[in-house]
This record gives sequence, structure tokens and C-alpha cells, in this order.
Amino acid sequence: MLLLFLIFLLHTTSLVTSSSDLRPGFYSNTCPEAEYIVQDVMKKALFREPRSVASVMRFQFHDCFVNGCDASMLLDDTPDMLGEKLALSNINSLRSFEVVDEIKEALEKKCPGVVSCADIIIMASRDAVALTGGPNWEVRLGRLDSLTASQEDSDNIMPSPRANATALIDLFQKCNLTVKDLVALSGSHSIGQGRCFSVMFRLYNQSGSGKPDPALDPSYREQLNKLCPLDVDQNVTVNLDSTPLVFDNQYFKDLVAGRGFLNSDETLFTFPKTRGLVRFYSTHQSQFFEAFAEGMLKMGDLQSGRPGEVRRNCRMVNARRAHLLPDSQQEMENKDEIHACI
Ligand code: HEM
Repeated sequence: MLLLFLIFLLHTTSLVTSSSDLRPGFYSNTCPEAEYIVQDVMKKALFREPRSVASVMRFQFHDCFVNGCDASMLLDDTPDMLGEKLALSNINSLRSFEVVDEIKEALEKKCPGVVSCADIIIMASRDAVALTGGPNWEVRLGRLDSLTASQEDSDNIMPSPRANATALIDLFQKCNLTVKDLVALSGSHSIGQGRCFSVMFRLYNQSGSGKPDPALDPSYREQLNKLCPLDVDQNVTVNLDSTPLVFDNQYFKDLVAGRGFLNSDETLFTFPKTRGLVRFYSTHQSQFFEAFAEGMLKMGDLQSGRPGEVRRNCRMVNARRAHLLPDSQQEMENKDEIHACI
């Protein structure tokens, strides 16, 4: 009897999706203006602080790679949950959470409890790219928001700016993404900025050599040395490519010239297996755009298969009875068909 009651509770309070449930126009009946509302707030954010849209676009990567696209990285820490915001790759780095809050607020006013935070990230990332001059694409929607987050999983999965191409290829493969997806998606660094913190080792002690990364173009290195001297406040930021407000293929041109900011960027040109694609995208912007949109769609399909909900506030889970259930019972709802990074 108790077991039946628990199963009933699970069915009434949590849902499950898999990537096959995602589809364009998911909200066309329940919240027909959803995509318009998201785009409107993104336009305002771009106007207010141009970098913020790049910061929001980065959320898709940091969300989807850690247990699928479920907005887990938007959850604030609680007394019994260390969330992802303070994970190694996110602390002092992820920013512009307030833009997502603003989108969520606008959506809750129009259609309360309908549009998930996970879908907001997907729509807003697409808009960030399109609004800064990049490709536009139709997104698949219908994701649920996670009931929890894991700092440990984020620390274990998210790549370091020191990563080399081999490690990145391996990681992306675990997430069902190809070498082509890796190179195209790295083109996201066509917009936005990084901190000196992420480049100090390259400038002064690459691989423990006590020397700079030899792949750095000398005049670019001089520039970076001035922006990020040894005693710099490591939160000072530097453009990720030479046109940081425009989504274009300048990023790849910069890599070819040895002017990539992150080690994880430049390694894509120094490594033979990825060099050809970098060179190709540096001269073929429309093919880059096409591959980028394709990669974003594939990355957006990553799902954990765990139970979820539509959060009212992206920073916290809804007050719900299923929390009283032990983990093992929640896991009962896991589907076989999952594509989160393994
Ligand atoms: C390939 C592996 C990747 C690595 C190692 C990596 C690493 C980084 C690092 C270290 C930064 C700067 C953070 C800081 O210094 O505070 C950064 C910024 C950024 N990343 Fe990535 N990233 C990768 C892939 C991606 C992907 C796939 C996307 C999105 C599709 C993305 C979007 C961005 C954006 C837009 C920024 C700038 C954010 C801002 O200005 O606030 N990155 N990334």
C-alpha cells in the first residue's frame, strides 16, 4: 500500500523526458509567445551589457555537459546540496544569471509553471548567437528542470582551459559529439571574454616549462603580457577573439595566426587532427555557421533521463513532496534511452 502511494506521488510530482521527446514548437499551445519573450529579454540584455549574451550562451555548454540539459547549473547551493555554481570551471566565471531570472519572470507572468529553465537556456543561447550576427536555428524544446545539482560531477566533467585537443576530443566523444562538433562549438569563443586566470600558465609557465606557450604569436603574447602581468588581479578580463561582440569566424582566423586566447583554443590548430577544420572554418564562415548550429542542437539533446519538473524559480527546486522520497525511488524513473556524457 505504502509502495503504491509512493509510486503515485512520483507520478504526480515528477516527470521524465528523453531527447526523443524534444521537438520544435513544444510551447505553441501552452505558451505561444515563449520564444518571443525570451528573445525580447535577450535583446534588452544585449543593449544593456553586450557581453552578457555571450555569458548566457556559455550556460548551454556548462549545463548540458553535466548530466544533460536540465538547468542544474542554475540551482543555488542549499544547506544539503553543493550546487554547480561554485564548481571549478564556474566559480568567479559564470555570470549573467540575472538575465535568465529576468526571462523566467517574464515567462511566469505570461504562462506560469509552463516553460522550463532548461529550455530557457537553449532558447537564450540560440538568440545570443543570432543577435550577435551568427546563425539562427529552430530549437527543440520540452526539457525538464533537474531536482538537484552536483558540484562534484561538474568538477569531474568540465574541461580546463589547459586541456589539449586529445583530451577535448575524448570528452566530446563521451557526450556523443564528434571532432567536427568540438571544433565548430569551440567557435562559440567568437564572442565573450575570459579572465587572466585562464591564461597565466600559458604566458609564464606552459606545462611547467617556466616559459610561454611557443604556439603564441609573439606580438599577441606581448599584448597579453601587458593585459595580464604576473601581479595582475586575475579577474581582469580579455577578449576571446579580436571581434568579441560579433559572432563570426574571426576566432578561427585568430587561431591560424597563433592568436587564440585559451590553450584549449590554440591546441585545435596545433593538433593535426583538428587543424584542417580550423583552417577550413577560417575561410568558410557559412560552413562554420552550419556546423555550429548542428553542434548546438546535438548538445541540446543531451538528457540524463532523471525525473524533473518545471521550476517556478530557476535558482531553486519547487517545494515538492517527492523530496521526501529516498533517492533510490526517484532513480526508479530513469529511462534507458539517455545521452548525457558518460
Ligand atoms: C571545448 C572546450 C571548452 C573549454 C575548455 C572552454 C573554456 C572556457 C574558458 C576557460 C572560458 C573563460 C572563463 C574565464 O576565464 O572566466 C570560456 C569562456 C566562454 N566559453 Fe568556453 N570552453 C569550451 C567550450 C565552449 C562551448 C562548447 C561553448 C558554447 C557553446 C562555450 C562558450 C563560451 C563563451 C560564450 C565564453 C565567454 C563567456 C563570457 O564572456 O562571459 N565554450 N570558455
